[in-house]
Amino acid sequence: MSDLHARVEETRGILARIARDFSPAVFASSLAAEDMVLTDLILKAGLPIGIFSLETGRLHKETLEVLDKVRDHYGVEIALFRPQPALVEEYVGKNGLNAFYDSVEMRKECCRVRKVEPLGRALAGKKAWITGQRRAQSTTRAELAVQEDDAAHGMAKFNPLADWSEQDVWQYIRDNNVPYNSLHERGYPSIGCEPCTRAIQPGEDIRAGRWWWENPESKECGLHLVDGKLIRIKSVAA
Ligand code: ADX
Ligand code: SF4
Repeated sequence: MSDLHARVEETRGILARIARDFSPAVFASSLAAEDMVLTDLILKAGLPIGIFSLETGRLHKETLEVLDKVRDHYGVEIALFRPQPALVEEYVGKNGLNAFYDSVEMRKECCRVRKVEPLGRALAGKKAWITGQRRAQSTTRAELAVQEDDAAHGMAKFNPLADWSEQDVWQYIRDNNVPYNSLHERGYPSIGCEPCTRAIQPGEDIRAGRWWWENPESKECGLHLVDGKLIRIKSVAA
């Protein structure tokens, strides 16, 4: 059995166990490559795991197109959680539309309004949530466990692709004809909101295009808390 085949089988087993023992469980999809692998595995197995995306209002049109691709390919609608309009209005009214470039605090506040608060609503009442994080994505994810205790949300958190490589992800996508975000073909290995993501140059860290104007030490995503603290996303040395 090839390494990838073994990984796929193991991941199928993890997902089946989550559906059996942690119902209701949900999968948070950013609509990027890793998340499309999990989407394919969940939907093809017919597992009762809801899939949602945090639609921040600032995503690329190519990312939004993935919602149509999923509908066309699988006949499934991904649930969208959007920020509260009043909170966005307050932030934009006070600080301007693109205040996240001004300071780390302004950036975190935008992420809080557009991602973290909606995530709380998406996870309400659930026993577990699933992410597409991988260990190899950054040094801070180097210790990532497949199963974690998410104390901040009071539930289990699973990272079933923890030990997958980027090559595994793309091999799976190609082998299974999985739809994906076309930005991946244009130098975007990691995709977040449009104003906070740029393409990378060959040889650059795969997360170098995320919040690229910030010091790597301050790149906290806000979605993934460890022991109640935000994870610091440091670049893996290029
Ligand atoms: S981030 O937290 O720094 O943005 P990254 O883009 O690497 O993280 O994504 C890691 C995982 O976080 C994804 O696989 C997905 O599970 C979750 N995630 C990130 N952004 C979103 C989003 N907009 N909607 C839903 N889940 C997301
Ligand atoms: Fe706001 Fe950028 Fe965070 Fe998106 S990634 S929520 S636009 S600061």
